[in-house]
Amino acid sequence: MSAYSQTTETLSQPPLGKLCVFHQRSDQSAKKIMLSNGFLLLQYNKRAKLLPMNADALILAADSALRTLFATPRAARPTPKPQTLLAPQGDGALAAPEARELTDAEKSLSASLMRVNHVGEVCAQALYTGQALASNNPALRAKLDAACREETDHLAWTHERLAQLNSRPSLLNPLWYAGAFAIGYGAGKLGGDKLSLGFVVETENQVEAHLASHMSHLPANDLASKAIVAQMKTDEVAHARMAQKAGAIELPEPVKRLMGAAAKVMTTVAHRI
Ligand SMILES: [Fe+2]
Ligand SMILES: [Fe+2]
Repeated sequence: MSAYSQTTETLSQPPLGKLCVFHQRSDQSAKKIMLSNGFLLLQYNKRAKLLPMNADALILAADSALRTLFATPRAARPTPKPQTLLAPQGDGALAAPEARELTDAEKSLSASLMRVNHVGEVCAQALYTGQALASNNPALRAKLDAACREETDHLAWTHERLAQLNSRPSLLNPLWYAGAFAIGYGAGKLGGDKLSLGFVVETENQVEAHLASHMSHLPANDLASKAIVAQMKTDEVAHARMAQKAGAIELPEPVKRLMGAAAKVMTTVAHRI
């Protein structure tokens, strides 16, 4: 019998930042960007409210995309590890039960499922970056920023687990990123913050349900993947709650169904490619 929990190992704090992209940078370069005229212009330039996307936002969006898709992500929290409970052995002594090694077929299944989860995190980076760039509300940007720190952790954990399973991320990640960014930015610009938050709630709810199904589909002895998925699931629930409290409006049912259908296509394809 085992339970999953995060270790209490302390890592350095994530860099200062307002957008997801900063969480993937070194502290120094993040501070440099925060102090640059370009970022201040993005924050305070009123023209940004009128134009679809100004040059600064475009550069930040491109930077985020390149880092999410091609750089190795850095987690602020340690990778969740399975916590194995000690069980009494034949001689009465307590010892951790030995985990059976994954077979090739189990590794392949785990890799497919973790690839799907990694795609979800690529989309989360794109969605939150698009929404943060579209919003002019500093309080909302701070909330998106906090959630995005955790999404960067998820990205790093799933990336790391894929490598451990001798597998790779989806080849179509640029496509998934572009689609999610367009939804995040479009929802924020066209529908405003409350609609944008509505997308967060619905996305996180769907992701949480998806992760719950992965907990039962992952091989029983793949405790490492299950520990990661369990922590991600906890975080996604908190993100949905945050968006709800921040004033999200409920999306119309047809939009929810459309999002569900798009997610189905994405997960089916990412399972293989
Ligand atoms: Fe996530
Ligand atoms: Fe999330």
